[in-house]
Amino acid sequence: MQTILTGIRCNDELTIGNYVGAILPLIEMSKKYSKEYSLALFVPDLHSFTTPVDHKLLYTNSMSNLRLFVAAGLPIGENNIEVYRQSRISAHSELCVILNNFSSYGVLTRMTEFKDKAERKDIDFVSAGLFDYPVLMAADIVLYGAKYVPVGDDQRQHLEFARDLAQRFNNKFGEIFTVPADIREQAKFASQDESIRIMSLTNPEKKMSKSVKDLNGTILLKDDPKVAAKKIMGATTDSVGVINFDKKNQPGITNLLVLLALLEGKSQEEINKEFVGQTSYGELKKRVAGAVEQILSKLQQAYEQVDVDELEKKLLHSEEKMRGIANETLLKVQKAVGLRE
Ligand code: TRP
Repeated sequence: MQTILTGIRCNDELTIGNYVGAILPLIEMSKKYSKEYSLALFVPDLHSFTTPVDHKLLYTNSMSNLRLFVAAGLPIGENNIEVYRQSRISAHSELCVILNNFSSYGVLTRMTEFKDKAERKDIDFVSAGLFDYPVLMAADIVLYGAKYVPVGDDQRQHLEFARDLAQRFNNKFGEIFTVPADIREQAKFASQDESIRIMSLTNPEKKMSKSVKDLNGTILLKDDPKVAAKKIMGATTDSVGVINFDKKNQPGITNLLVLLALLEGKSQEEINKEFVGQTSYGELKKRVAGAVEQILSKLQQAYEQVDVDELEKKLLHSEEKMRGIANETLLKVQKAVGLRE
C-alpha cells in the first residue's frame, strides 16, 4: 500500500478559511483514499515554534484542533488512517540531524518561506529552527516512504526540497528512501484547487488570519455563530453595485462567492450563476451569514461530543505503530552513513 502523508498544523486557532481550505479537503481525501492507501496524518508540533507561539497554550491548542478535525468528520476510526504527533516519535528529530549534513546551506537560504518569515516584522528572532524547517519536513516525509504529500502551494518548494534530498541521498547510498511523487503527480491527488484562499472580511486583499489585531475580518471556528454571522454582514464590499466574480476589482464580493460555494459544497459556477449580475449585496451576505452560522453551530456541537478518550487512544496507538516504521527507516539510514554495523 502506498502512503499519503500530510501535516496538520495545530498551533494556531483555526479559522473558517482553514476549515474550507484545509480541513474539508483533508477529510474528503481521507474518505476517498482510506481503502486503497495508508494515510499518515500528523501534527508537526516540533515545527510549531519556528515562528512565535504561546508555549503555555501550544499543547492545549494542538489537542483542541485535533478534536475539531474529528468534529468536522475526520474518520479516525478507519484502520488505514494513522493520526500522530511528530514529537512523540524521536526518529523525526534524529533523522533531521543526519539529513542536515546532506542539505545545502545555500539552497536553504533561498527557500521562499524562510526568506519571507525572516523578513517579517513580527518575527524579531530568526532561529536556526526556522532555517532548518524544510529538513525536518523532509524527514517527516521520507521516514514513512510517503509517495503522496498533499500540501498547499506555499509548501511545494519544501516538497521539492524533500524530493531532491531523497534522490541525492539515494544516489550516494543506494535505494534507502522512497522518493515522493513529483509536483504534477501530486496535483492529481489534491482533491481541490489548492489556490483557494479565503481573504479577510475587512481587508479582502489579505488572507484571512487569526494573527491580526482586528478580528472583525476573521471568523474563528470557535466564534459564537451569531457573532460570526454579524462579521459576514459587516464584510467590506465595494461601490460597483453589481455582483461580479472579479478578484481584482471586487475582492470582497468575490471572497463571499468563493466562501459560499465551499460552505454549501457547490461548484463556483453554480453559485455564480445564481448571484452574478444581481444587485443586492445584502442578499448574498445573508446567504453566506446563514451558511456560516449553521456550520459553526453544527461543528461546535460536534466538538462537544467528540470522545476525547478515544482520540487519545487513537493517538497512542498510531504513535506506536508509526514509531516502528520510522525506526526501521532510521536504522537503514544509520547503517548507510556508518553509524551502525
Ligand atoms: N509545513 C507544513 C505546513 O506549513 C506542515 C508540515 C510539516 C508538513 N511537515 C510536513 C506537511 C510534512 C506535509 C508533510 O503546512
